[in-house]
Amino acid sequence: MISYKELGLVNTREMFKRAVAGGYAIPAFNFNTMEQMQAIVMAAVETKSPVIMQVSKGARNYANGVILRNLAKGAVEYAKELGCEHPEIVLHLDHGDSFELCKDCIDNGFSSVMIDGSHLPYEENIALAKKVVDYAHQYDVTVEAELGVLAGVEDEVSAAESHYTKPEEVIDFSTRTGCDSLAISIGTSHGAHKFTPEQCTLVNGVLVPPPLAFDILHEIEKKLPGFPIVLHGSSSVPMEEVNTINKYGGHLEAAIGIPEEQLREASKSAVCKINIDSDSRLAMTAAVRKHLAEHPGDFDPRQYLKPARDNMKKMYIHKIVNVLGSDGKLAQ
Ligand code: G3H
Ligand code: 13P
Ligand code: ZN
Repeated sequence: MISYKELGLVNTREMFKRAVAGGYAIPAFNFNTMEQMQAIVMAAVETKSPVIMQVSKGARNYANGVILRNLAKGAVEYAKELGCEHPEIVLHLDHGDSFELCKDCIDNGFSSVMIDGSHLPYEENIALAKKVVDYAHQYDVTVEAELGVLAGVEDEVSAAESHYTKPEEVIDFSTRTGCDSLAISIGTSHGAHKFTPEQCTLVNGVLVPPPLAFDILHEIEKKLPGFPIVLHGSSSVPMEEVNTINKYGGHLEAAIGIPEEQLREASKSAVCKINIDSDSRLAMTAAVRKHLAEHPGDFDPRQYLKPARDNMKKMYIHKIVNVLGSDGKLAQ
């Protein structure tokens, strides 16, 4: 058993309490590579922000669990080397799909896990989440569970039953599972193609997607005052990165994300964790494509991964300072 405490990591409990009370959100950035980890840590240290570094099952398969754990341990030491005396870094499992995977992460240095039973029937989702919570809490590891299925607006319209989180279920779900935070579905979705152009309105040449279901969010807040809420699928898909990718040989069509103003508004509510992965992928790919197109003779990975890391760092800082508002929010 490797406790996250030995690695200098923290769980989400205290930082969520402060974020809900303070009206801001903690960034949850996915990482698969050393460069992403470095960019996340540099951004968090420069802005004095707590940060959640999250890894998916796919990330573990790609990079290896032992390596990722040691990257997270390295992240804490790196933050200190960069001058942050008391970094608040969470190592979180994103979209855990079984008790066994969650247990393996808890036993191997994770300070927080998500058990995603959102696709299961309600009672099965509760039973699975409770099993993970009962195990995790023995080790002071915090647990995120999910209620409602992330889906685009199109799915909402065509589905017989709404995928959005049902506010009437949240008290029962959070009480019976004992989860520490709740991921909800209010119109965000994963990836770089969250909406079709037909679902958007053209405003000054920009496609603006329909707004998130803030009414549902506010109803949930009323049912669970002060309870930490999580938003997945919250990349904004910046046009400049998409344009750079397409200019230098990529082909991304109709890539549309969540407008940052909506995430800014959500951050002021009980939403205290906002998940961003696709924007990091876009920032990395745009910088690599540009560099290689402009320097066709380069073949040392450091030559193109450095601009990729710089571009991701810039994006992370922008999110922290201008969207989530977690800058300057370290406990000490
Ligand atoms: O929500 C999913 C995250 O973006 C992780 O994606 O499973 O491809 O690593 P992944
Ligand atoms: P994006 O695809 O919008 O970045 O969402 C990431 C996410 O929710 C990870 O769990
Ligand atoms: Zn997600």
